[in-house]
Amino acid sequence: MSRLLWSMLDSPLTRALCSPMSVDDYLTTFNPLWSVHQARARIEAVEPETPDAVSLWLRPNHNWRGHRAGQHVVLGVEVDGVREQRCFTVSVPPGQDMLRLTVKRNGDGRVSNHLVDHARVGDIVELGGPAGEFVLPEPRPDRILMLSGGSGVTPMLAMARQLAAEDYQGSVVFLHYSRSYEDTIALQEMREMAESWPWLDLKLCVTEQAPLEGDHGGFFSAEQLDELVPDSAERHVLLCGPDGLMKQVHALHEQRPFAALEQEEFVAPSISSTGEGRVRFARSGREADGESAGTLLELAENQGLNPEYGCRMGICQSCKCTISEGTVRDVRNDQVRQVRDEALQLCVHAAAGDVQVEL
Ligand SMILES: Cc1cc2nc3c(=O)[nH]c(=O)nc-3n(C[C@H](O)[C@H](O)[C@H](O)COP(=O)(O)OP(=O)(O)OC[C@H]3O[C@@H](n4cnc5c(N)ncnc54)[C@H](O)[C@@H]3O)c2cc1C
Ligand code: FES
Repeated sequence: MSRLLWSMLDSPLTRALCSPMSVDDYLTTFNPLWSVHQARARIEAVEPETPDAVSLWLRPNHNWRGHRAGQHVVLGVEVDGVREQRCFTVSVPPGQDMLRLTVKRNGDGRVSNHLVDHARVGDIVELGGPAGEFVLPEPRPDRILMLSGGSGVTPMLAMARQLAAEDYQGSVVFLHYSRSYEDTIALQEMREMAESWPWLDLKLCVTEQAPLEGDHGGFFSAEQLDELVPDSAERHVLLCGPDGLMKQVHALHEQRPFAALEQEEFVAPSISSTGEGRVRFARSGREADGESAGTLLELAENQGLNPEYGCRMGICQSCKCTISEGTVRDVRNDQVRQVRDEALQLCVHAAAGDVQVEL
């Protein structure tokens, strides 16, 4: 459809004609991809990556704004009749017809397991974002160390391809950890990248299997880093992986800093602090002691409510909800403030006194 037609569909007259339904309600009956404002995508291919991970190729509709290599989307998907939202990195760079999301099972997690087991060609998903600051630095550093583990490879794949598209003239060491070859997402793709691009030096480490010739074994350590990447201190480090790996790299950076360290976390840090006061969920009529859980999101879930969330770490905005009034604490910086009729991210705020949430 042309831009003109889309703007006509967004007019007050069309909205009035469709009332009490929305324009999207009508459009969706013709084509589930059509929407006046919402970015949606059709799954065009589902590729198994490992026994625990799949890559989904998505063709977005005209509302998709485009992303930067390394950014993530908030994927909206229906699981057993309930609409859920979660964050997934776009594992290809921008400028292509299709987006690729590579999804790994997360324990018993609802959405990741649903996608790995049940995502099918033709399914329609919603796309929020793109979002995130984990992108290639400007200007591009001469020396980069991409350091990833497990599904943390996804932003690296997009960023490496972006550098190739720009005819990058520097040097990238791509140090990736996985348990075994069978468990390595994009194993063949990484090998092909290293063969095609002389500036990319792939160091693959398997931690629970004997390494093949040319690869390496064992977990991350300062000694191993010195052996594999002797100039790591002069490199701009891009880090994404499991919590243990991220913590070790951070500890090393504090002892002997890299040229720079940027990172993406896939898992929310556990927030140990609890709230105070009494929290009232106005629409559902439920109430709880602020101190019975950490964040307002956890408190709502403990009350049997099902607020939307994506990242649970203050990135994606999915959990924003109006606080009619009350005193809240931002658990990221411990700042306490009074709020009235303000939309806040429930996942990073706790009650610091009586609070009323519109939920
Ligand atoms: C910026 C960003 C980018 C990301 N990019 C990617 C990516 O490219 N690829 C990728 O695979 N992942 C990525 N992730 C991680 C992905 O978002 C999570 O794996 C996903 O949110 C998990 O959703 P889920 O519905 O499967 O799990 P949830 O159902 O939300 O559960 C989360 C975790 O809690 C555990 N859990 C659930 N219920 C309980 C319970 N009652 N008691 C105890 N534990 C429980 C689950 O086992 C699971 O480990 C990214 C995350 C972020 C923040
Ligand atoms: S769930 Fe993403 S900001 Fe709260």
